[in-house]
Amino acid sequence: MSQPIYLDYNGTTPHAPEVIAAMRPFLETHFGNPSSSHWYGTGPRKGVQTARGQVAGILGCRADEVLFTSGGTESNNQALKAIAGARYAQGSHLITSSIEHPAILAVCRFMEDHGFAVTILPVDEDGLVNPADAAAAIRPDTIMISIMHANNEVGTIQPIAEIAALAREKGILMHTDAAQSVGKIPTRVTDLGVDLLSVAGHKLYAPKGIGALFIREGVAPEVYCHGAGQENGRRAGTENVLEIVGLGKACEIAAAQLDHNARHMREMRDRLETGLESALQEVRINGHRAKRLPNTCSISFRGLAADRLLDAIGGEVAASAGAACHADQVEVSHVLQAMQVPAAWAKGTLRFTTGRATTAAEIDRALEVIVAAVKRMRG
Ligand SMILES: Cc1ncc(COP(=O)(O)O)c(C=O)c1O
Repeated sequence: MSQPIYLDYNGTTPHAPEVIAAMRPFLETHFGNPSSSHWYGTGPRKGVQTARGQVAGILGCRADEVLFTSGGTESNNQALKAIAGARYAQGSHLITSSIEHPAILAVCRFMEDHGFAVTILPVDEDGLVNPADAAAAIRPDTIMISIMHANNEVGTIQPIAEIAALAREKGILMHTDAAQSVGKIPTRVTDLGVDLLSVAGHKLYAPKGIGALFIREGVAPEVYCHGAGQENGRRAGTENVLEIVGLGKACEIAAAQLDHNARHMREMRDRLETGLESALQEVRINGHRAKRLPNTCSISFRGLAADRLLDAIGGEVAASAGAACHADQVEVSHVLQAMQVPAAWAKGTLRFTTGRATTAAEIDRALEVIVAAVKRMRG
């Protein structure tokens, strides 16, 4: 049996061939500890150094502003728990948005349990945060604003630079969860104006379980993980050399091919979207039509149950659902709820996300499968 067509690139990406090639010597030969002063430490140490420069390259920052982590979730935890947490004496108010990934929202709930106050900003029907709402939410004790760069479900891109400018004016730290945007759209930290930015390796063709946090120079270093002092003393533990090298290479190629890849992913996404819109009645696209990741299509099929539709196409097309059925109750994602997508639409929402390797033939076949399944289910 052939494999289903993969249209879940926001879920994760395969390893880029260049990433595999860059990692191979570290799997097979360069096994040394980067902290060792002898010969065996040299290759791994250089590998980590090169990777730090490559990550800095795509973010437009200095290499020593890059902290390696275990992924997007840890980077977000570090930013909030370690960096905001350490500023408790200066203030205990955080601002975030209602459509963040659980790796922010669950951390905010934890922070609330530990004495912080959190303001959760609403979004409009396109999933956009209004900078005026952020401005109005700022209090004398606000110490950090954390708003995601691009949403994982609907792809809406937030006005980070505008919100960051407000934060800077008031001396508030600005963090953005860029897990979905790095490698898909420009993410230079000076253009965004952020102090902290989270990267998730497996969203940009690097392995799972590796990521990075950009920490602007001057933002006081906090020790997140105590031990032997790796990562400038901030996150101790022998480095995950293999995956750090993979992340570095992934960032290097993503930066070099950013426009080309974005154009391709957009063409494939638009081919799918226009195909679905022209073949079917009662479909709607979620997310901002222009301010949106080039690869993301969140689409609602009115009156259908998303997970049943996913099951119906699952043998041939791999995608993800914006709603899940539990014992006759349909649970709509918090993102679609925050965008106030009407229930009859929201319950039938799927997310299709294209990638570098997506072909027009795959899209055309996926269209046939999805259109046939929707027509069948609608009777
Ligand atoms: C927006 C966003 N933030 C954070 C994460 C978590 O990243 P990781 O899987 O590397 O922990 C994800 C992953 O889906 C994401 O989409």
